Amino acid sequence: MPAELACFEERCRARFAITEVIYNCPKCGGLLEAVYGKPEQSTAELQTIWRNRRTSNAPLDQSGVWRYREFLPFLADYSRVVTLREGNTPLLNAPRAAQYGGLDRLVFKHQGFNPTGSFKDNGMTCGVAQALRLGMTRVACVSTGNTSASMAAYASAAGLQPIIFLPHGNISFGKLAQALEYGAHTLQVEANFDQILALVRRLAEELGIYLLNSVNPFRIEGQKTIMLEMMDQRDWRVPDWVVLPGGNLGNTSAFGKAFREMKELGLIGRLPRLAVIQAEGSAPFYNLMRARDQSRLNAIEHPQTLATAIKIGDPVSWPKARLEVSVSGGTVETVTEQEIADAKATIGRCGIGCEPASATTLAGIRKLTAAGTIAKDADVVAILTGNVLKDQDYTYQYHQGELKTLEGVPIAPNFGNPPVVVPYDLNRITDVLNGLPS
Ligand code: F0G
Repeated sequence: MPAELACFEERCRARFAITEVIYNCPKCGGLLEAVYGKPEQSTAELQTIWRNRRTSNAPLDQSGVWRYREFLPFLADYSRVVTLREGNTPLLNAPRAAQYGGLDRLVFKHQGFNPTGSFKDNGMTCGVAQALRLGMTRVACVSTGNTSASMAAYASAAGLQPIIFLPHGNISFGKLAQALEYGAHTLQVEANFDQILALVRRLAEELGIYLLNSVNPFRIEGQKTIMLEMMDQRDWRVPDWVVLPGGNLGNTSAFGKAFREMKELGLIGRLPRLAVIQAEGSAPFYNLMRARDQSRLNAIEHPQTLATAIKIGDPVSWPKARLEVSVSGGTVETVTEQEIADAKATIGRCGIGCEPASATTLAGIRKLTAAGTIAKDADVVAILTGNVLKDQDYTYQYHQGELKTLEGVPIAPNFGNPPVVVPYDLNRITDVLNGLPS
């Protein structure tokens, strides 16, 4: 069976050619997904091919996405793929964070090691490859910052024109600066993420611009490889839990699809449980999964959190995420601004670091172990979605004791580490150093 697009809705499942420029099912409006037949190779053959490609100098093989191309065979021709060597992100053992989270052991898969500093690169190389294949010349997205940085880089590398829509005043300067540097036409709109997305979807259709938000099914295909690479790195040992932040819920959808497909192919024997963590003031998916009626998501009109990456009140991929959390036996949790800030500083002290949205994972783990949902001796992988350099204002303000919630409530610098100003004086500096805790 060749690759096709399929409607995600169980009652519809309409199929469309893989080359149609559609983002929702033309019949019922449901989300779309890419579907394939089984690969020719056996499970063992695939595992060997993927492992051997790590020693190759071919650009496609060096990509942590395209190395696994048999797992996302939507392209007929790989000659125009643009790779910045995305993926290839490490699994990092973090004993201090494990202790903070109430676990014996904790491993982070750090997507902040990607070329533009976030997990978006895994999906963007695929979205841009599809744009090229379709003959598109302009691509667009609305973003809380990371998608736009990634799209700007990949589109420019591919010779496409990137057009970016941002919620004015609600993204970190690091991410905005990346978009400018990578040459994107950048429009700061005076509205929130959800409002702008509705507008950009119309604009894309009317102007023939290819939309690269995570509603684009090819981005989801690329993000599947985050979990495939993790399983390859773990020699195919399935963890008990995978913990990740939830915003627009593209990653939750991608991870769940990846595990279901790995199981179908016999690469793994069971599904890990997905734990999705949201910021308390921006938690529509948490509300949905705790509601008796899960048939409709109630959007939050004014989502609030300092973790701007996940400041989203009307997540597009909620029907997919609802299925993935349910079939994996997973859970959804919320964390406060103070919990996010302290967890972030703890991840920093492991020598690892991440941006605020990523730290929801450790804050969520701490809550879920305290509640007994995650066992102390569970095998847990948490996904750090963005690099520590993405939001330097937040980090600096926390350590200075100047960070405040959007309502103006001070966040205590429980793990604050402010710089010390000293005079140019050997004796005084010696006194300061002698006074440091050993
Ligand atoms: N973490 C980071 C650092 C993000 O940038 C995002 C999403 C998420 C987590 C949430 O992931 O949407 O797949 O549930 N950022 C998007 C953007 C929305 O525009 O960059 P999700």
